Amino acid sequence: NQETALKSLGNEGLFLFSSLDTDKDLYISPEEFKPIAEKLTGVTPVSDFEEEETLDPNGETLSIVAKFQPLLLETMTKSKDGFLGISHVALSGLRNWTAPATPVSVMSAKQFKAFLPPKNKLELGDPWWIIPSELNIFTGYLSNNRFKPSGGKNAEILIHKLLSMFHPRPFVKTRFAPQGAVACVQAISEFYYLIALRIHAEFQLNEPPDFPFWFSPAQFTGHIVLSRDSSHVREFKLFVPNKRSLNVDMEWLYGASESSSMEVDIGYLPQMELESSGPSIPSVIHDENGNVLDSRDPAGEPVQFVFEEIRWQQEMSWEEAAQKLEVAMYPFKKVSYLPFTQAFERAKAEKKLVHSILLWGALDDQSWPGSGRTLRETVLESSPVLALLNESFVSSWSLVKELEELQARRQDKFSSQLAALHLEKYNFPVEMMICLPNGTVIHHINANYFLDITSMKPEEVESSIFSFSSNFEDPSTATYLQFLKEGLQRAKPFLQT
Ligand SMILES: *[C@@H]1O[C@H](CO)[C@@H](O)[C@H](O)[C@H]1NC(C)=O
Ligand SMILES: *[C@@H]1O[C@H](CO)[C@@H](O)[C@H](O)[C@H]1NC(C)=O
Ligand SMILES: *[C@@H]1O[C@H](CO)[C@@H](O)[C@H](O)[C@H]1NC(C)=O
Repeated sequence: NQETALKSLGNEGLFLFSSLDTDKDLYISPEEFKPIAEKLTGVTPVSDFEEEETLDPNGETLSIVAKFQPLLLETMTKSKDGFLGISHVALSGLRNWTAPATPVSVMSAKQFKAFLPPKNKLELGDPWWIIPSELNIFTGYLSNNRFKPSGGKNAEILIHKLLSMFHPRPFVKTRFAPQGAVACVQAISEFYYLIALRIHAEFQLNEPPDFPFWFSPAQFTGHIVLSRDSSHVREFKLFVPNKRSLNVDMEWLYGASESSSMEVDIGYLPQMELESSGPSIPSVIHDENGNVLDSRDPAGEPVQFVFEEIRWQQEMSWEEAAQKLEVAMYPFKKVSYLPFTQAFERAKAEKKLVHSILLWGALDDQSWPGSGRTLRETVLESSPVLALLNESFVSSWSLVKELEELQARRQDKFSSQLAALHLEKYNFPVEMMICLPNGTVIHHINANYFLDITSMKPEEVESSIFSFSSNFEDPSTATYLQFLKEGLQRAKPFLQT
């Protein structure tokens, strides 16, 4: 079939076709055609989320508790001048959002079946898409000017419902890649799965007549312990990591059209998490003879359930599972990116160079738009670049804010000096650097400059949608390879001694 398809469409045609055929059945359903229809007609249909299955009266239910501490406004760069020049209206949705929309929600265990692994994904750490991305080179990104999420089914309904506990307008399909939600089995027992989750989603905080304000947390991560038939949820937790000093990207518009001017900032959100208050329990209890029992004992106390201990037959660590999910979302992570100081130690031991990216916001989550995003989706995940990085470099990326703190901390002279050498060469917003293991920067290039000289503008990508051909040579990959090789060349005299 693949061959027949190739015959009728040719290489490029088949590539376009396959990028739309998300379930790979060689047929394009209306759902799969949607991104192209929207692109060509410019109209995004707004549909409602499908009716949920009616709650099974005999099924189990659990309570999910939402915890939320609002974004710390003082962590936003624009707070430095007291939000000078930013209209009060633009930020009103943000300032207003001080508590979860629904602090507690009772859900049926069955609804969580959307998190069950497909039959062919039962191997530990083998990721699958709970919500596949609809974005690709042909569709580009989704419009900024949207207020109401469009409908979906199964996993989209579940995730929409969960995220609605924080705010009424979650979008389970982000405007920018990597879009969607990914999962992998982290442990298996006779009756249960432990499933690791990573979800990219964002929120629209404003409503018309105000202009859009997008709030994009770095990611939602977490896990679920679910019985194999999804009748019982033992444990569920989903949260936005708060270990880094910045974890939310915000973009707001000063107009209703795509070309309206936009402001961007990043900030720190201390807490955004959902957690089950306990295992799911039957809403109705039957005795051995099938008679319905009161769920309260004669003294009026709720019946206490005893849950058997789960003995995992196979398991992997959370770190390993999280890394598998990260690579699924960000192929550029096929090479490891080490913490800053550690990268230099490793480079010294392995007689390699350090390939370091210093940026204003994070490289491997959704908390920062801009050049970082473009880089990781193009050059950093291209196979020739991955191969060269893997062979000759130790990679690392850091936040400017973190290196500034490291530099200021004078106790550790080595780290402090490494940070100083880096910051000396830094230009906003992203600087790519190649360093000797002792920290000397031997080559560097600014991302904006790099993108200017190499990449196609979004308009150009769009106009090339239907002229896409295999002759299409990605100039940025070639230029990045050149940059890395130049670094190796300059380092030669030093590495040999
Ligand atoms: C802010 O909150 C108030 C009270 O909950 C509500 O009436 C108002 O519409 C909200 N404003 C925005 C912009 O969400
Ligand atoms: C990196 O190199 C090692 C050893 O040569 C190899 O086993 C591995 O597959 C490479 N990884 C990538 C992403 O190229
Ligand atoms: C790092 O090593 C190179 C070559 O040995 C030397 O020229 C340079 O001064 C060193 N840099 C620092 C910061 O020590």
